[in-house]
Amino acid sequence: MSILILNIKQLLQVHETNVTLLKGEEMKTLTVLENAYVYLEHDTIIEYGEMEDYRTIEADTIIDATGKIVLPSWCDSHTHIVYAGNRTSEFVDRINGLSYAEIANKGGGILNSAKVLQDTSEDDLYDQSIARLNELIAMGTGAIEIKTGYGLTLEAELKMLRVIKRIKQESLAVITPTLLAAHAIPEDYKTKKEAYIKYITEQLIPEAAASNITHYIDVFCEEGYFDIKDTETILKAGQAHNLRPKIHVNQFNILGGIALGVKYNALSVDHLEELNENDIKALKGSDTIAVALPGCSYFLGISYTKARNIIDAGLPLAIATDYNPGSAPSGNMNFIVGAACVKLKLTPEEAINAATVNGAYAMGISNMYGSITRGKKANLLITKPMEHYSEIPYAFAHNPIEQVIINGQLLEA
Ligand code: NIG
Ligand code: FE
Repeated sequence: MSILILNIKQLLQVHETNVTLLKGEEMKTLTVLENAYVYLEHDTIIEYGEMEDYRTIEADTIIDATGKIVLPSWCDSHTHIVYAGNRTSEFVDRINGLSYAEIANKGGGILNSAKVLQDTSEDDLYDQSIARLNELIAMGTGAIEIKTGYGLTLEAELKMLRVIKRIKQESLAVITPTLLAAHAIPEDYKTKKEAYIKYITEQLIPEAAASNITHYIDVFCEEGYFDIKDTETILKAGQAHNLRPKIHVNQFNILGGIALGVKYNALSVDHLEELNENDIKALKGSDTIAVALPGCSYFLGISYTKARNIIDAGLPLAIATDYNPGSAPSGNMNFIVGAACVKLKLTPEEAINAATVNGAYAMGISNMYGSITRGKKANLLITKPMEHYSEIPYAFAHNPIEQVIINGQLLEA
């Protein structure tokens, strides 16, 4: 199987030497080849260059990309796409003035989704989740993180992990599973949080780690959920089982979760709608990447992450969808790239870097994904005809994607 794409108007994110992370100033540059070609064999990027240097290459499939942009597929490093049903009734409650916290306090929110998931069969959960993923692939997502966290019992969490494993086996997309060990405190444990944390550290984490499906651990570090002490206890237990943190912090309140994440060598700290100088300081010199989720800010009407402060401090930033039924029911990375420009004040170059190389870094896969580099995996997208790549974030809520190549296979969008 080989694919040759010719006459590409702009080939983006081209790197002769592999790139695995772009920080601060580096994010301002998006490498572009004008009037280019790229050649793929099986699942690998073999060759690329400018059309004027092109010498005939035989290929099974030849695509004429005249007037179109080609770039690495989107890398969505934070999602909760394995869930059952939806929360449209809470959506209406919020329109009528209730806050996310008020809805959660009356038994809605994560507890609502957990109840539905517990009552959903494994096959049904798989069918609902893979349908979501296929829709995202058609919109250009080629690599995606998927969290557990809507189980809240050992049985339901392991069911989620098995569903993620099955998705990983069946889908062409690259899947990074994360154990969202501590997402909410179930009703029966309301007055016994310590007992619930004990269940997480002594049962859930060891069982999940033994299944070998995931290498990452997540905690919702937030008022009314898990405080700093709880988070540290859980991260420590995760560390003992070689689970690296990718954590929810600073969504509504600053509890010190960023510094804690850095202390435990988190791969990423995600949300950061609230952010202060100490948080920025904590990130400096670390291997931890900040992940902004503008779809969540949009849907809940909360602050947007001060992404400029992060990048201007010389730090790396990734952007992701947070696709979930409660705070961000969309997994469209094209919208996220647009929202990053309009709301986070990223340039198109910064936003595309944040959604490709840096998104891949936030999943621990940027050695093989996120740029057009010889030897990297053939996960690419081809846009509809456009004058310049800036039209991707500019024309918000449009679908700019025409075709996707995922793991070396061409799919029609
Ligand atoms: O990332 N904040 C925690 N978890 C999800 C939302 C969960 C839900 O409301 O179902 C998030 O926003
Ligand atoms: Fe999330």
